Amino acid sequence: MRRARIAVLVSGGGTNLQALIDAQAKGVIHSGELSLVISNCEGAYALTRAENAGIPTLTLTKKALGGQTPFEAAIIKALDEYQIDLIVLAGFLSILTEDFTARYPRRIINIHPSLIPAFCGKGYYGLRVHEAALERGVKLTGATVHFVNEIPDGGEIILQQAVAVQAGDTPEVLQRRVMEEAEWSLLPRATEIVCQEICEQK
Ligand code: GRF
Repeated sequence: MRRARIAVLVSGGGTNLQALIDAQAKGVIHSGELSLVISNCEGAYALTRAENAGIPTLTLTKKALGGQTPFEAAIIKALDEYQIDLIVLAGFLSILTEDFTARYPRRIINIHPSLIPAFCGKGYYGLRVHEAALERGVKLTGATVHFVNEIPDGGEIILQQAVAVQAGDTPEVLQRRVMEEAEWSLLPRATEIVCQEICEQK
């Protein structure tokens, strides 16, 4: 059976991309293959991680392309060219329009660093999510992988993992623990689950 072709969209350091690369090497991801990495930020370290793993990369920025519509058109063109079946948002800090998400129902997944529906939606990204969790005083937080639809962080949940908040946590410390204890295992597992679903439909 042909494996599902995966594109990973990134903006930054790419530790979640690295977790996907490592999971593919270990066979945790075996129903899909990492086939393309697209960054919307010039020089993102995630691009170096992809190059080191021999995965083709593209940098597409709204600024260079002249706005959201040509930016999304360029992404769609690349996804078509590389015959992509699944889009994984791994620290991709650009909101995609409904026109874009509606083209790929159950074919876009995202990792969010909280237990949705807590601390999610517009404005909740990066350290802000962990700051909000600490401000509220929750004792458990975690990570969620979900399908992407037109509602920010609102699509069907695929997997979640809880992580304990500890006394004295700073947003940075909590962010790191959520990555280590949840995100880096959750995203590869969810990616494999969706790739299996795609393969079964082929
Ligand atoms: C992660 O916390 C992820 O949950 C969020 O953005 C961060 C990306 O980190 N969506 P990295 O670029 O994968 O290291």
